[in-house]
Amino acid sequence: MDLGSWGIPARLESGADEPVYTLEQKGRLTYLAVCTGCHAYDGVLHGPSMQSIQALYDGDKSGMVAYINNPERKREDFPEMPPQSYLGAETLDAIAQYILEDLGK
Ligand code: HEC
Repeated sequence: MDLGSWGIPARLESGADEPVYTLEQKGRLTYLAVCTGCHAYDGVLHGPSMQSIQALYDGDKSGMVAYINNPERKREDFPEMPPQSYLGAETLDAIAQYILEDLGK
């Protein structure tokens, strides 16, 4: 059947394909879905504010990726952060990129 002739975009023809996200979208959407459960941008929630984290990791994306992959207890007044390694290296990198380059700007 030629769906194109009905004005239906070609990519719908293949059915239930996974949506394809850009790295920017992966970083932003995963940040919103996962990290904001515990981190607010400019206030303390379950974890420290993202503004303070931006200052801490300014220009150190790989340092941030290393931390979220395998966090260590740093602050007496916060619980430990659970590892986010299940998200995979590519997504962790995209999240750190989003936080350092786009969040709040
Ligand atoms: C279940 C709650 C929770 C989730 C979800 C969570 N965090 Fe955290 N995060 C914390 C807590 C609590 C701390 C403070 C830990 C400490 O200081 O020992 C923290 C600290 C941090 C730090 C500070 C590291 C440092 O060196 O001081 C970074 C960076 C961070 N989180 C990034 C993220 C990112 C990115 C995500 C999403 C992928 C995320 N967190 C998801 C609770 C969470």
